[in-house]
Amino acid sequence: MSLDHSKTLIAGATLPDGTRTDLLLADGAILETGSLDGRHEGVERVDADGLIALPGLVDLHTHLREPGREDAETVLTGSRAAAAGGFTAILAMANTNPVTDTAEAAERILDLGRTAGLVDVQPVGAVTKQLAGEELAELGLMARSRAQVKVFSDDGKCVHDARVMRRALEYVKAFGGVVSQHAQDPHLAPYTSCCHEGEISGRLGLPGWPGVAEEVIVARDVMLARHTGSRVHVAHVSTAGSVEVIRWAKAQGIAVTAEVTPHHLLLTTDLLAGYDPTYKVNPPLRPAEDVEALRVALSDGTIDAVATDHAPHARHDKEHAFVDAAFGMLGLETSLQVVATVMVENGLLDWSGVARVMSQAPARIAGLDGHGGSLRAGEPANLTLVDPSVQVVVDRDASASLSRNNPWHERKLTGRVVASFLRGARTYGS
Ligand code: DOR
Ligand code: ZN
Repeated sequence: MSLDHSKTLIAGATLPDGTRTDLLLADGAILETGSLDGRHEGVERVDADGLIALPGLVDLHTHLREPGREDAETVLTGSRAAAAGGFTAILAMANTNPVTDTAEAAERILDLGRTAGLVDVQPVGAVTKQLAGEELAELGLMARSRAQVKVFSDDGKCVHDARVMRRALEYVKAFGGVVSQHAQDPHLAPYTSCCHEGEISGRLGLPGWPGVAEEVIVARDVMLARHTGSRVHVAHVSTAGSVEVIRWAKAQGIAVTAEVTPHHLLLTTDLLAGYDPTYKVNPPLRPAEDVEALRVALSDGTIDAVATDHAPHARHDKEHAFVDAAFGMLGLETSLQVVATVMVENGLLDWSGVARVMSQAPARIAGLDGHGGSLRAGEPANLTLVDPSVQVVVDRDASASLSRNNPWHERKLTGRVVASFLRGARTYGS
């Protein structure tokens, strides 16, 4: 009998809530769940015994380098890395060259993503033209374009002028958009600042980046969100003080959401002692007290989502003296493992919690249809299968990314993505 390749039977998977089920994928959707064995002969079969099925992961914060720096990453290579990491949708940040600040630029990213066909690539639009912080970009035109942009960010730069931020929030409110803020007051922490300000920045002689430079922008922006009745999202929260402000703002009913990166959940400032630029990232790695506060905040829902801030860089941009190297680290292929290691193993999140912070919450924040479901019949078949029982030593040369700035190289992490499916088609795993 020949195999019916249009259907896939995932047999014996464990759902995030711990129940065991088969899943029949057909025509891009989950057709049936429950105990299906024996009823679907001749279809492609995936043995998922011992594997957890998660709704496809969604990354609110990916830097692809196309257009402009295709030597560091392209939409295709970034999509491959995303699928290998369990993602079915990623939001592509606007700080490319040219910047994604027009409808045409946004549609081009969308089309490159569709051509690659491995994850849904949803462009983020710039808040201001050229990320210059002065004039608003074509927010309405990007929203009405084929790309239907809803998330806007000058990431890499802060929308530091309060008047510009206020106008952006008012503007996006009309179509249910959100501004994702890279919170860094450039007067308190100039863009050359590269080390958490404290004893360590003094000892290493590196320009300090004080936590308060983030916190004052978060505090200002939640008040602007309250004033405008619009929605603000805080990108890569890195300090305990920001967590306090967000917790307060949520208690007031202010429409604020927040993300934390895998690296801020595990890596600390002291890694900078060897001046290895792999650990240079913006915002910088923080002390253990901040890391602990971020874990608690992710566990209790103050921080809504994990977002990778996947920031690939070519060797000749990264391999420099610490102060001259580019900011950023890879994240797409390892984020689920970091979350399993830090949050699941420490009892801070169960697998339903992982589905919430890595799929459902980010899909909701970005307004992405078809992602962030709960693996019920009738939903699009966007999912990933994870083996939670193995420990894997990360090898940066095994990456699908074009870049090698991987801070997890040679670390042992828990869990492994076994397969990913986008609308029923396998995008990773054999
Ligand atoms: O470390 C970072 N890298 N932080 C940012 O905000 C931007 C990003 C990049 O584009 O490389
Ligand atoms: Zn940023």
